Amino acid sequence: MTVPTPEAEGKPRILYLSRSDISSVGGDRSDLYVQALADALVLHAEGKTVQPLKPYLRVHGKEGHIADRIIAMPAHVGEPGISGLKWIGSKHDNPARAGLERASAVIVLNDPATNYPIAILEGSLVSAWRTAAVTALAARHLARKDFTDVALIGCGVIGTAQVNALLQQFGHIATVHLYDQRPEASEAFASRIAAEHPQVTVEVADSAEQAVRAGDVIVPCTVTDRPYIEAGWLRPGSFLSNVSIMDVHKDVFIEADKVVVDDWEQSNREKKIINQLVLEGEFSREQLHAELGEILAGSRPGRETDDEVIVLNPMGMAVEDIACAAEVYRRALDEGVGTWLDLY
Ligand SMILES: NC(=O)c1ccc[n+]([C@@H]2O[C@H](COP(=O)([O-])OP(=O)(O)OC[C@H]3O[C@@H](n4cnc5c(N)ncnc54)[C@H](O)[C@@H]3O)[C@@H](O)[C@H]2O)c1
Repeated sequence: MTVPTPEAEGKPRILYLSRSDISSVGGDRSDLYVQALADALVLHAEGKTVQPLKPYLRVHGKEGHIADRIIAMPAHVGEPGISGLKWIGSKHDNPARAGLERASAVIVLNDPATNYPIAILEGSLVSAWRTAAVTALAARHLARKDFTDVALIGCGVIGTAQVNALLQQFGHIATVHLYDQRPEASEAFASRIAAEHPQVTVEVADSAEQAVRAGDVIVPCTVTDRPYIEAGWLRPGSFLSNVSIMDVHKDVFIEADKVVVDDWEQSNREKKIINQLVLEGEFSREQLHAELGEILAGSRPGRETDDEVIVLNPMGMAVEDIACAAEVYRRALDEGVGTWLDLY
């Protein structure tokens, strides 16, 4: 993984890529991300990445909403590779109060030869699609091969990208079950799926339980800090990608046949459910089945039987953002997309 350093007459410059620039090079659908992540997650499993633990800036501390924060996510991927940082803000009430998306972000890429910044990208589009691509890539290995039903809880930016990526990557999906505590959100997404994928049946559920019980692949994408998904709701053979992290009760991790994470160190912190279980002596590194990159690299098995219940806890890794942003950057250079900014 190498990237060229942009220079004009010996002076460093930066390529700025807006959301529409990123879309124009394929950054608004899943293929680019699935390919970039297949490599990056294996590099991570092989120890060829550097990823410090991400600090959370919470201005209101413990009194604040769980989704009121800014997170700094630095990483280096590959050799000689690329370095960078995603700086991602979140305000839970941005959609209702300001008509804005909950999350906003920029990604800075740095050339490891000089450590100079070489690109700045609008970051929330990359972030949503890389998160969706992690679930899609994991589903290749952790979902039943013949799964037909997808259940989504929370039809916001992240949830809709999850289902769109699954529909793009798995042409055999027959039914999508949607639940959102705001019925208008699930109804609006149901109409979009029906228009874009007429072969797919869409069911709007009356409760999270109804949707989860119907899913072979289940994806919670809410902003809750109160677990509500119970182990007994998961049917044999299901795969749950725990994208919003706090939705599942502890018994889901205890009773699952396999628990997979993207990165153990990142998952076992910040009082998230896995971290709570570890602190209570109920779960440990030894009980973890694998990190996802180990399964992609073939050093650990994925799904082995049709009735296993498998839970992926994808905390979200800077390695994913930087690898995907680097691929967007490379394509933008190739296609002459973006705006050059002089650094000096
Ligand atoms: N794991 C990762 O890598 C990763 C990456 C990005 C975002 N996320 C997480 O994804 C989540 C969703 O982000 P978003 O940008 O789509 O937020 P959003 O505010 O756009 O959408 C959230 C949706 O969930 C619904 N909702 C909230 N609580 C609910 C509940 N208890 N039951 C049912 N529906 C509920 C809301 O009505 C809304 O439609 C966030 O928690 C975010 O932290 C995870």
